[in-house]
Formats: sequence, structure tokens, C-alpha cells
Amino acid sequence: MNEAELRRLAESIRGTVAGLRRAGLREILRAEPRPAAPPAHQPGKPGRSQAALAAETEHPSAERFSTETGTSPVEQEEKAERLLAVRNELGDCRRCRLHETRTHLVFGEGDPAARLVFVGEGPGADEDRQGRPFVGRAGRLLDKMIQSIGLERGQVYICNVVKCRPPGNRTPAPEEIEPCSPFLTKQLEVIQPKVICTLGACATQTLLQTRKFISELRSGVRLWRGIPVVPTYHPAYLLRNPAKKADVWKDLLRVLQILEG
Ligand code: URA
Repeated sequence: MNEAELRRLAESIRGTVAGLRRAGLREILRAEPRPAAPPAHQPGKPGRSQAALAAETEHPSAERFSTETGTSPVEQEEKAERLLAVRNELGDCRRCRLHETRTHLVFGEGDPAARLVFVGEGPGADEDRQGRPFVGRAGRLLDKMIQSIGLERGQVYICNVVKCRPPGNRTPAPEEIEPCSPFLTKQLEVIQPKVICTLGACATQTLLQTRKFISELRSGVRLWRGIPVVPTYHPAYLLRNPAKKADVWKDLLRVLQILEG
């Protein structure tokens, strides 16, 4: 496993643990496999996760925890594995010209079973340097937005429409969005959040397949494959237009209502 894969794995474990803590995790049980436990993977048979094996072999008195998502730790780990498979499929992506200028591909991070996913436009300079989404100034504002609805960053999932930085932070071009957006679709299909919050016009228009303005779209809740989408302004836009914070707060309340509904 290389450094980037290890970092992604660590991030997914952090998300998993955050989910378990929310569910009241008091201790992590180390399952002792029984001597006759079957191997994790037999040639010709589909591989089974270590967590699935551990669940089968754990001590009978072991307590089981489920997260507030209603997702069991085994399901949560399966989602993490499926997300890793999507990441591996993306590989050292050269599907569009953005690969020529990127430092790191920024896949996304957070709880693989998150009930809330934020979708941004594309990595900026800080994200390109670190290989993580929303870690610059706009990211710090996004963190505050997340906290304002009583959540922590590790409890949600954060990703972008395009995974590589458009030079000069320009809006991604259609020929860059087109090969990348299937991976966003796959991420959302794995996570199956209760609500998606799109940040800005690019994410909103890409997900909802529309050219309408964000000011028009943010007044209501739309659906993406049956999942409610709450469009709001991009945090970078909010930094330039702080007067729009009241509107974003209304949008976040709508997100909260859906989460609690
Ligand atoms: N802006 C985005 O749209 N995404 C990031 O990850 C950072 C800034």
C-alpha cells in the first residue's frame, strides 16, 4: 500500500470511528479468530472483508455497535472498501488535461456511511498540495458550516465534481467534468447519504443536470436519484460576499430538517 492509499485508509478509519463514537462506542473489541476460521479469500471465490470475518468469529459475548446512520460496522467497512475500489478505478487518472498540472488528485474524504455529503467544484491550490478536499480558507468556512448544524467534519463526506485542480482555480470545463463526474456518481451511489448539499453553481448544475442559476435552484429541495439535494452558495463565494451567510444558514437548516426527518 502506498502513502496516498494509507492516508485514504486512515481517513476512512477516522470517519468510521467518528460514526461509532456518535453511536456511543465505549471500547473497540478485538475479535480473536477461532483456529478453524476460513481464510479471508479462497481462489475462485469472492473475497470477504476482514470485518465480515471478524463479525463471524468474534466472542459470543461481544457487544455490537451500530452507528446513528443505522449502518453496522460491517456495512460501514464494506462502504469504505467500495469507495477504495472507486478510488483505485480512478487510478493515476489521465482522462482529461487537468492531470498535466495537478500535484495530487483529490478524491474526497469523510465517513463512508455519512448521512450528509457536501459536493464542491474542484480542488484549489491548498487541496492540490495536500490531496484533501476543502482544507484552505474556503474549507475552514465549510468546517464552520458543518459545526453550525452540530456535526464534525469526520461525520460527513466531502468531495468535488472534478478531482484535479483547474489551473488558476478556474471553473472546470465541460470536457473536464464529463470524464470525472461518473466517479462522483459512484461515490454517491456507495455512500447513499440521506441528503446531498451542493456547494455553488458547478456542483449543483452538474448533479441536477441543469443550467439554471444557483440563486434560483437554492430556493428548494431537488432530488438526485431519490436523494434530496440542497443547493447552497460555495464557501469561497461566501468569503467574498459575507452578506449571503443568512441565505446559507437557511439552506443549512433545510439540510438539518432532512437529517432529522
Ligand atoms: N473549492 C472546492 O470547490 N473544492 C475544494 O476542495 C476546495 C475549494
